[in-house]
Amino acid sequence: MDRVVIVSGGGTGIGRAAARRFAEDGDRVLLVGRREAVLRQTAEELTAEGAVRGGIGTLAADLTGPEGAQRVRDEAGARYGRVDVLVGSAGGNVKYASGGKEPPGGLAGVAWQWRSDFESNVLTAVLLAEALTDLLQAPGRRVVLLSSIAAYRGSGTGSYAASKAALHPYVYELAGRLGPHGATVNAVAPGFVEATGFFGGRMPQERREALAAQTVTGRTGTPEDVAETVFWLASPGAAQVTGQIVQINGGARYGN
Ligand SMILES: NC(=O)c1ccc[n+]([C@@H]2O[C@H](COP(=O)([O-])OP(=O)(O)OC[C@H]3O[C@@H](n4cnc5c(N)ncnc54)[C@H](OP(=O)(O)O)[C@@H]3O)[C@@H](O)[C@H]2O)c1
Repeated sequence: MDRVVIVSGGGTGIGRAAARRFAEDGDRVLLVGRREAVLRQTAEELTAEGAVRGGIGTLAADLTGPEGAQRVRDEAGARYGRVDVLVGSAGGNVKYASGGKEPPGGLAGVAWQWRSDFESNVLTAVLLAEALTDLLQAPGRRVVLLSSIAAYRGSGTGSYAASKAALHPYVYELAGRLGPHGATVNAVAPGFVEATGFFGGRMPQERREALAAQTVTGRTGTPEDVAETVFWLASPGAAQVTGQIVQINGGARYGN
């Protein structure tokens, strides 16, 4: 297709795999993240691999604040004049993303962790979607956000799980606003996904094997597993699927 697709967190992991899936299909993709060098490298690699059939661009922005989200809105408007699909993959668990830095102790540490996870997972998604809302009010437009299995069963930290769970009512609310325009809004909730920056390369082998053993498919998830579902949710065939949280976890958790 020839759509304009914004992928936050598109430089690495699940966002990168999603960007690749859209780019292979001929869409023009804009990768957004905080690290310009990572975004550029990904764009160059995907291009060199022949995965880019439409076009690929990069834009460095921190989406935890309104300035970053507004910059993406302004730049996308100027470069493309439209946005067809938003994939909100930016986020992470501050426990793993802090690069081994010791958080403050006591209640100050609790406040830091909850605030950081909220900013990283809720504000990055909500501010960008809100900044783009006027462009997304049209038939065929799609929003797909990244939740997590943690939203259903907790995982690692309460603050990360709660921040992902907070996206669910936002998905319902935004689906209600965009639905009358012919646009859909959904989230995907993966279980453990390998080969991303999420755990900072610090996943012990025993933990990895334990997570694989929780599935009925006998394996952990890949970024491509998630990208395919994101791509399908953004397809014309998924026009009647909206306000849903789609779980991708190999049966590690059934139903809702
Ligand atoms: N891997 C899993 O097992 C798993 C399971 C369930 C859900 N998820 C969710 O899936 C999404 C993608 O995670 P991943 O596993 O692919 O990990 P990842 O490789 O670390 O991807 C996260 C991306 O988000 C970007 N990002 C983080 N904070 C940002 C900010 N404030 N502004 C702009 N971009 C920001 C990062 O780039 P910069 O650092 O350059 O900004 C990075 O490219 C996350 O929302 C994560 O919570 C992951």
